[in-house]
Amino acid sequence: MILGIETSCDETAAAILRNGKVISNIVLSQVDIHQFYGGVVPELASRHHLENLNRVVESALSQAEIDFTALTGIAVTRGPGLVGSLLAGLTAAKVFSYIFKLPLAGINHLEGHILSHRLQYPDFPSPFIALIISGGHCELVRVEGPGCYRVLGRTLDDAIGEAFDKVGKLLGLGYPGGPEIEKEAARGHPHAIPFPRPFLEKGSLDFSFSGLKTAVALYVKKKAPLGQEEIADICASFQQAVFETLIEKMKRACQETGITRIVFGGGVASNRTLRKLFKEEACKNGWNVCFPPPVFCVDNAAMIAYAGESRLTQKEYSGEDLVRETIVEPNLRL
Ligand code: KG4
Ligand code: ZN
Repeated sequence: MILGIETSCDETAAAILRNGKVISNIVLSQVDIHQFYGGVVPELASRHHLENLNRVVESALSQAEIDFTALTGIAVTRGPGLVGSLLAGLTAAKVFSYIFKLPLAGINHLEGHILSHRLQYPDFPSPFIALIISGGHCELVRVEGPGCYRVLGRTLDDAIGEAFDKVGKLLGLGYPGGPEIEKEAARGHPHAIPFPRPFLEKGSLDFSFSGLKTAVALYVKKKAPLGQEEIADICASFQQAVFETLIEKMKRACQETGITRIVFGGGVASNRTLRKLFKEEACKNGWNVCFPPPVFCVDNAAMIAYAGESRLTQKEYSGEDLVRETIVEPNLRL
């Protein structure tokens, strides 16, 4: 029975996992707090984690109908993320670990996203290519199995969710921008505006979204004031440009590696248009695509517990000295 704790950005989350099965999964979003500022304010995020973490952990335990004595280990995100937010979660996890004499595993948040599909589809076979598309990341990763990762490409500037959030702000939509853009896009034409597809040089599997974001900003400036129909067309065309870029990169990655199994992770992976486009491509190219349910796409502690479970059962955890040495790493890479 593993307790997972996740506080790398603006979700305070705790979950209980037993043999890969989610027993409870509590996510307290801070979106109401950051909405006012149009983005995550790191100082506020860490303060709210501190205020709420005990309550969230207690809820996870009580929903699972257990207390600390039933636990066999703790898995906590140690990076990448906001330093203050990470510290709040890691410090709490260390305290629980000392008090209840539980082994502690410090987990890479990206590994959580890579493995999150297994919470629903535990038998999806390796090797596969993982596309992590969230507010903080855009990474294409070759996965041979748990713990065996090779990054094929990553964003050189904005993360994909960040681009959605910035375009949402530009259009005066709510925060976070991703779900709002998806809603508006449903009424618009995906080919109304020819926004650039940032493929970078031939063969590259890296991404770049800042040029596309600037193209949207310039278009908005030129056409202002915008009517409802124009906003819908901009959202649909922006989405289309982003998703076509992802599909093109995925084609290259599949060709290069010979792998045709694909899993998705991160908040943007809950977008229904993205899922539809990738499923269509899957039919054309013989891909086997695996989407976690939206609740496991966004930041959650169940995926952290999952990544920790195998480490803890293989006794690959932080012993007492290592607990002291387990530190947050805001720029941790895979
Ligand atoms: O994975 P996540 O909860 O947090 C990070 O690890 O960053 O992802 C949050 C991001 C936000 O940028 C949000 O705008 C985006 O995911 N997002 C979406 C959708 N739902 C959330 N983007 C596009 N379409 C969506 N439906
Ligand atoms: Zn995340």
